[in-house]
Amino acid sequence: MYDFDKIIDRRGKNSAKWDQRFIGKGEKELLPFWVADTDFPAPSAVQKALEECVRHNIYGYALPPEGCEQAAADWQKRRHGFEVQPEWVTFTGGVDAALATAVCAYTRQGDGVLIQTPNYTPFFETVKNNGRKVLENPLKLVNGRYVPDFEDFAHKAKEAKLWMFCNPQNPTGRCFTKEELERFAEICLENHVIMVSDEIHGDIVYEGNTHVPLASLSPKIRARTLTCTSPSKTFSVAGLGASAVMIADEELRRQFMEEKEKRCLNTNVFGLTAMKAAYTEGDEYADRLVSYLQRNRDFALDYIKREIPQIHAMTPEATFLLWLDCGELGIRGEELEKFFIKAGVRLSMGDAYGDRSRKFVRFNFGCSRMLLKQGLERIARAVEREKA
Ligand SMILES: Cc1ncc(COP(=O)(O)O)c(C=O)c1O
Repeated sequence: MYDFDKIIDRRGKNSAKWDQRFIGKGEKELLPFWVADTDFPAPSAVQKALEECVRHNIYGYALPPEGCEQAAADWQKRRHGFEVQPEWVTFTGGVDAALATAVCAYTRQGDGVLIQTPNYTPFFETVKNNGRKVLENPLKLVNGRYVPDFEDFAHKAKEAKLWMFCNPQNPTGRCFTKEELERFAEICLENHVIMVSDEIHGDIVYEGNTHVPLASLSPKIRARTLTCTSPSKTFSVAGLGASAVMIADEELRRQFMEEKEKRCLNTNVFGLTAMKAAYTEGDEYADRLVSYLQRNRDFALDYIKREIPQIHAMTPEATFLLWLDCGELGIRGEELEKFFIKAGVRLSMGDAYGDRSRKFVRFNFGCSRMLLKQGLERIARAVEREKA
């Protein structure tokens, strides 16, 4: 029923990942492992719901489909044990829009916003572009695994109004534990820091790990937390731009809604129709997807260890992203980017995520195993050539 091995040509379908028409000549043949969407078709329930919209063929101003809030709330309860009331749910046209809205709703020009590094690039951009100050809290690399630096976090929290958190984390693949989350939240509560938790990758978590929604930890934490979720990564609907934001506290919700109004952030009928269908009927698809991705992850980790030992991969506990330390190749920054382009693959460069060493790259393994193998083989051959 779900054949994730099947290769579907996405070229010529206006895919940011595959249609590299803005990138320059001579790069058409690159295999893309960069932009964080998957190459898999959406579940048939999503397709069916969208087909119904298209058959109707009137796309006027729309309300969220009836029961969409409930579907988003039920998904959280069923999949992550997070009790959400439907009235806490509001929608935005994607998580990035929700993050920008939160920054503007809860902080003023010059205020500090705490962000772990490395991190998803728009976190930094949203803060800077709105005239707020990024307070970086670098994760520490201990025995090949990123861990929080709570001492630094507690120190910087004194200056912060907001903490923008990514869990599970893009690009490192960390799925933070309950104990880690509690410690982070405790520091935020002590310092009156509002918590915005981007949990867009929360459905894609591998064996031995559990996604714990930050706001599910306690009523006190929930009252100071916004949870940003979306079906976009799990169900291959990122291009439809729809996110469900959960805000339990009435005053925080009011402030968010006010800012959302100011920004004219309407959602579209396709995004929310797909969301409702995915959250209502997508359990089996999500289970199978995670199991396929886990095998992709293990395949990639094993291949890199055996065939490309000069590159060190962090083991992602969640997400379809591999964070690769290429330090041993002895090339960094632009040279590293050129190296991978010459190898025939397009990856995301680490410096965009705040990697100052410029030796990391991010590799998206949300694709068929065949394509993944081809990409890794291209890299292995390029490393061999570099050695020779
Ligand atoms: C952590 C994280 N947040 C947000 C987004 C973007 O979400 P949206 O497309 O819903 O704006 C991404 C996409 O890669 C992401 O990785």
